Amino acid sequence: MQPYVLAISLLLMIAVAAAFWWAVRNSAADAQGATTGQVESYRAGLFWALVGFGVVIALATLRPWPYDASAAEDTVIVTATGSQWSWEIAPKELPAGRPIIFKVTSDDVNHGFGVYDSDGAMIFQTQAMPGYVNQVRYTFNKPGKYRVLCMEYCGLVHHEMVDEIEVK
Ligand code: CUA
Repeated sequence: MQPYVLAISLLLMIAVAAAFWWAVRNSAADAQGATTGQVESYRAGLFWALVGFGVVIALATLRPWPYDASAAEDTVIVTATGSQWSWEIAPKELPAGRPIIFKVTSDDVNHGFGVYDSDGAMIFQTQAMPGYVNQVRYTFNKPGKYRVLCMEYCGLVHHEMVDEIEVK
């Protein structure tokens, strides 16, 4: 997605730069060659064309918003609840290549929901807080086992608050 956005941005920037260059090149000619009335009607036409263009672009690109990620058809919802000192995660077997939304909360005190890959590198984390549901969206592209560690000191056995999810 990002390369397309970049390419489109570059094209639009080039178009804007070309329009400026054209306007600067022709401003002297307009002042000499065309009457004031012609220039003004041309400007008004250009103005309304730009307004119309903006409205079309806004309608074409903003209609799907506000975007509810969990409404996507292939999204998998995972609930994760922390409590001293374990995680309750369901489901624990997840598909690779599909967007996963983790809904994370806590039954008692604040915990940290941190997900690590098999190399021990953290992929993402969010707070697990009593009374709140924090959402994280992530797509696992690599099958394997992922560890869930508590990221916030939450009492004597904090260090054993470890669980595992498997991506297939
Ligand atoms: Cu839960 Cu530290």
